[in-house]
Amino acid sequence: MRAMKKIVILISGRGSNMQAIVRAAQAEKWPCRIAAVISNRADAEGLRFAAEHGIPTDVVVSKEFSNREAFDTALRGAIDRFSPDLVVLAGFMRILTPPFVEHYSGRMLNIHPSLLPSFPGLATHRQALDAGVKVHGATVHFVTADLDHGPIVAQAAVPLLPDDDEHTLADRVLAQEHVIYPRAVRWFVEGRLKIENGLVRVLEERAQPANT
Ligand code: GRF
Repeated sequence: MRAMKKIVILISGRGSNMQAIVRAAQAEKWPCRIAAVISNRADAEGLRFAAEHGIPTDVVVSKEFSNREAFDTALRGAIDRFSPDLVVLAGFMRILTPPFVEHYSGRMLNIHPSLLPSFPGLATHRQALDAGVKVHGATVHFVTADLDHGPIVAQAAVPLLPDDDEHTLADRVLAQEHVIYPRAVRWFVEGRLKIENGLVRVLEERAQPANT
């Protein structure tokens, strides 16, 4: 029997990706426990969902820290209380310092609303519309110190339609985020992600013995 992996999810707002992951983990009975949901904002909507689902929550208010290093040190303390195997950034709107990223190297995932390496940074849907690309999408990647550039785990593409604005496009991309992020986290939990030379290989699903 595989050990239960512990996951800490970081959010800053609505937390719909976090909700998709929690729901999939429960419905598909992943061998993991969502150990905590932590926010850098006390008013993050997603905290209520987590609490209602019996998941411990914590808040480390970024505005109360005078610099990034101090915040990241406090955040790391809050996360490591739960000894996570995986840290999941789900709409966590903070740039993280290199020592923080290094501490979670190979065990921290992020979702970015574009087909990386196109359109890193903010306002990705605006960037896609302005560039006139015909497909856009979302990317799940391991987090490295190079913002929005870590090894890619999963991607989903959506078409740009003639009447799209940032909102219609964001909605179409978000629906795909809710598909690929749970899938990628599940792969990690199942031990199926291997980083080789900066590229991610997804190992075949291991056959499960009958009666389990
Ligand atoms: C998502 O589009 C995610 O890709 C981006 O911020 C948004 C967060 O949405 N980083 P939610 O908080 O998961 O609902």
